[in-house]
Amino acid sequence: GKSGYDHFMLKEIHEQPRSLRQCLRERVSELGGTVDLDVDVAPDGVQFVACGTSYHAAFCGVSLFHEAGIPAQAFLASEYATSPPPVDGDLVVGVTQSGETADTLNALREAERRGAETLAVTNVVGSTVSRECDQTLYIRAGPEIGVAATKTFSSQVLALALLVLSQTGASRQDVAALRDLPGNVQQVLDESNAEEIAQAYHGSDAYFFIGRGLHYPVSLEGALKFKEISYEHAEGFAAGELKHGPLALVTENTPVFAAVTGDGELARKTIGNVKEVEARGAPVVVVTDGRNDAARYADHVLEVPTSDERTAAILANVQLQLVAYHAADLLDRSIDKPRNLAKSVTVE
Ligand code: F6R
Repeated sequence: GKSGYDHFMLKEIHEQPRSLRQCLRERVSELGGTVDLDVDVAPDGVQFVACGTSYHAAFCGVSLFHEAGIPAQAFLASEYATSPPPVDGDLVVGVTQSGETADTLNALREAERRGAETLAVTNVVGSTVSRECDQTLYIRAGPEIGVAATKTFSSQVLALALLVLSQTGASRQDVAALRDLPGNVQQVLDESNAEEIAQAYHGSDAYFFIGRGLHYPVSLEGALKFKEISYEHAEGFAAGELKHGPLALVTENTPVFAAVTGDGELARKTIGNVKEVEARGAPVVVVTDGRNDAARYADHVLEVPTSDERTAAILANVQLQLVAYHAADLLDRSIDKPRNLAKSVTVE
């Protein structure tokens, strides 16, 4: 059942502290230094194949691998099969919650025909992807009923962060960031003002999401969640791309959500983009940990606890999940079963 929640989606959003703990369980040594995943890989390069929300998680994986100095690329599975890149010794990683998505399975089969070693990152034990790939990394999110993927996204990103640490070794700071993540997600859930923000911008013409680095795929994911359950126009952009076209869409009636955490170069540049949209009269909502002055340029703030930049993306995403949920709820949409969509897409 829905355990007292109005929708499975809201229940699953609230399950994230628990599903993230499950993903970590017995995989990270409390003393630090080792991450043990039951998969035996040592890739020189990684190609991700995935669809939809899982593609956004894979896209986060690309940033995480790059930070560790390991080359990685993410492909939309449908495009990978259409125009397959040379595999050249790369590990091909299929990221799929259900493990049954036809496009992702086809891309993996294509990679296998080209001699690639394959790894499945999935939630479902015994799924087709886990049977067909050489190895499987389970995300352990527990069953997800809502068509809109929520807890499986955060667990996919966490599993990919663990995969990176299994290659590089984990510092004490890495282990602390992982250990703090479930509690930080809980804090976001307990204190979120997302409902108030959904109300404030109800009836807008469109909803835009911007970010850099890990916050770019989070922006794409924020927009996908928003459009699929509210049926409103929502788009995510790399913050730096705004001025190359999308800025023309920005008006007083298009709120822009900007994820800006930390106090580094990335935050400084995104704040520059926030000022650009603010100057065009767009309402701005910043998702921030308060380590920068983004809030000064914002009409509303969605707070996240201060954390490691890698986990900050997951925290920012939880706020955007809640915004999408409440916006759709205000419109009385069929949140757990949006029109035209299915939980498991087994056709190409
Ligand atoms: C969006 C959503 C879809 C899936 C996509 C891939 O909320 O759920 O975009 O992420 O259909 O599904 P899996 O992960 O099962 O391969």
